[in-house]
Amino acid sequence: MQPDLPNYSFHDLKPALADFRREVHNGLAATPRRIAPKFFYDAAGSRLFDAITRLDAYYPTRTEIGLLKAHGAQIAALLGRGATLIELGSGSDVKIRTVIDALAPAEYLPLDISGSHLHRAASGIARDYPALQVHAICVDYTQPFDLPPTTDAHRVAFYPGSSIGNFEPAEAVRLLQRVARMLGPHGRLLVGVDLKKDAARLTAAYNDPEGVTARFNRNLLVRMAAALGADIALDAFAHDAFYNAALGRIEMHLRATRPTTIALDGARYDFAPGESVHTESSYKYSVDEFVALAGAGGFEAERVWCDAEQLFSVHCLRVG
Ligand code: AVJ
Repeated sequence: MQPDLPNYSFHDLKPALADFRREVHNGLAATPRRIAPKFFYDAAGSRLFDAITRLDAYYPTRTEIGLLKAHGAQIAALLGRGATLIELGSGSDVKIRTVIDALAPAEYLPLDISGSHLHRAASGIARDYPALQVHAICVDYTQPFDLPPTTDAHRVAFYPGSSIGNFEPAEAVRLLQRVARMLGPHGRLLVGVDLKKDAARLTAAYNDPEGVTARFNRNLLVRMAAALGADIALDAFAHDAFYNAALGRIEMHLRATRPTTIALDGARYDFAPGESVHTESSYKYSVDEFVALAGAGGFEAERVWCDAEQLFSVHCLRVG
């Protein structure tokens, strides 16, 4: 994965397939059953997520892009130019290009669990920004890892898309603590966070009429069959997404519609109709709730931008 670009390198710290296999066994044996959402993102899953970001019902992506474009100058004034820019989960191409245009960083380190997706996006950026040093790092950033050597420019991080919402709040605090250590004193984090809002709007964003979110969720079963050799009746599971107001989160499940069994490596996991695998949580935060979470994670809130409809927030945080 090294194209002929002098300003591009690809570092493979990729999680082994064995991690996925272990997660599936542990998660299907657990009560309630669950598989972490990071396992959605094989090549097909990353493509399906890209399609989600373009759906009418899925407001977060276009709202966050609007905020980044509208406030680029203020963001640059806070984060500073010429930085080492670290992106957690290289998501949308439009978002990172907007941030790069505003900040003019010296170095760009995108981190992503999906190697092919990361390589395509990051090498495209290296091609279009020849003065920018791009070091793509394929890694599960929820696990400890070392960054390749960087210049001594100040570090800033960009964590878009409300991916922080995938974690239980206590896990999110631990992740923020690790990001704060990675950034060092005076480091800054620009983070996108989806806001609490009426349940109908939230639920609609995860139940698009086009069925893309359902395909994204069910692709996990396709991946388990193709990559791990699991025996699964794909038509026995349905996409289910709803807002859990008590916990302030969207939950996605793969729910059995009839009695069925998943067989993997000689183990058998039986499902009664209605039983599910919990595949994703997407926590929603008010501005004040997220500021409190960031504080527990070692960051001081410096600035927050929200759209007029109060759908989405972008926070600038400083290592405290
Ligand atoms: C990338 C985790 C922010 O939770 O909204 C979109 C993923 N899942 N539709 C989200 C997702 C279903 C997304 N994040």
